[in-house]
Amino acid sequence: MSFLKIDGGKQAEEPAIEVANGARLIPRITIQAFCEHSQTAQLVEAAVHDRRMSKVALTTHNGGLEGAIETYKANPTPNLIIVETTLPTEDIPRALERLAEVCDAATRLIVLGHVNDVVLYRELIRSGVSEYIVLPTSAQAIVSVITELFAAEGAAPIGRTIGFISAKGGAGGSTVSHNVAWAISQSLRQDVLILDLDFAFGTAGLNFNQDPPHGIADAVGASQKMDQTLLDRLSSKAANHVSLLTAPVVLDKTFDFEERDFEQIIELSQKSTPVVILDIPHIWSAWVRHTIATIDEVIIVAEPDLANLRNAKNLADTIKALRPTEAEPLLVLNKVGVPRRPEIPANEFATSVECKLLGQVGFDAQTFGTAANNGQMIAEVAASNRANDMFRLIGMHVTGRNTPERVASKSSLKIPFLKKRA
Ligand SMILES: Nc1ncnc2c1ncn2[C@@H]1O[C@H](COP(=O)(O)OP(=O)(O)OP(=O)(O)O)[C@@H](O)[C@H]1O
Ligand SMILES: [Mg+2]
Repeated sequence: MSFLKIDGGKQAEEPAIEVANGARLIPRITIQAFCEHSQTAQLVEAAVHDRRMSKVALTTHNGGLEGAIETYKANPTPNLIIVETTLPTEDIPRALERLAEVCDAATRLIVLGHVNDVVLYRELIRSGVSEYIVLPTSAQAIVSVITELFAAEGAAPIGRTIGFISAKGGAGGSTVSHNVAWAISQSLRQDVLILDLDFAFGTAGLNFNQDPPHGIADAVGASQKMDQTLLDRLSSKAANHVSLLTAPVVLDKTFDFEERDFEQIIELSQKSTPVVILDIPHIWSAWVRHTIATIDEVIIVAEPDLANLRNAKNLADTIKALRPTEAEPLLVLNKVGVPRRPEIPANEFATSVECKLLGQVGFDAQTFGTAANNGQMIAEVAASNRANDMFRLIGMHVTGRNTPERVASKSSLKIPFLKKRA
């Protein structure tokens, strides 16, 4: 095996047996590789044929490290970047610093190099590079390193969990959550899984024009038997990069959940998909409270009226108290500008609720009505509608991307794989 593994001498093993039962499949991550030599590009492309990579979306590009830096100045970064470099040893750390400056916080990096140098290896690993592989190597070795990173026992879950809840029934939590999921899938090309938690009345199936035979009820009901493979079978593909666990939408039985009934399914989702969107119904129960307390981001969707304001304030206060060390809830105002309707101005609303206002979506009965009735997203029925920019911006923010606002305030910009540098 040609890549260096020094600390503890642990080699990335070949998990053939685990692959047979699917336990070590790499999750649905996106990988972009920047190679300098065509043989390296071929090697990386060959890796995609490994069974462990069956869920991965991988693209290869020319230009090596410099190509990556140029690309990510203008484009969002994937879950994993692989770069080949032929730079002299002493120039590599500085070039990686420039790459880190244009990368999003969660992105990981594997460097393919031509120098077998222990000192360089140690420096790169110390600075947060996930692995340095010396060329020539095999496609299998590359896949093994990726497996170690993303699918090893105890590997950090890759998925970010983002919940949307309406301050008042019908305020648009579901519509906004589905369109934000769509925006993330299209503009960041990240895989998104939508969990429709509104068992009796959920609209994720309708909004994506899907009526699959299975969905979230089977997933929650399966509890003991639930695993990655079953989760994959129960979810349905709604579009490129978008999967759904739809609500059963039946009234012949009632659904009364225990506080922790959704824990397992959320954890499993996080292990397989980079972005997990939770469409949370407008109810207040033990499981809703517990779920909200445990996810990465909570977005309150409200209309600009008094009842929404009161509810949003109550929700925001409660959520902050529930999760004092986690990200504060965020606010999105929806259906702004209904003709002749008196409205509370956005800034006043946000100040009273004491929440960061992520954005406002205008009321547009024609476009939203058409989208809902056709089972399409807003971007599909009206690509140039301003609401799409808002959905994209919300998506960028909740997935921790470098939104223009974050880049402007450099202090909050985390340098990803150089974070461990002293
Ligand atoms: N900005 C908007 N302009 C016009 N109509 C909208 C807008 N946003 C949502 N709608 C419409 O409002 C209705 C309610 O939206 P949605 O189902 O998303 O709300 P909700 O808060 O999730 O409702 P529930 O309380 O049932 O969960 C839908 O018909 C949707 O198409
Ligand atoms: Mg809803």
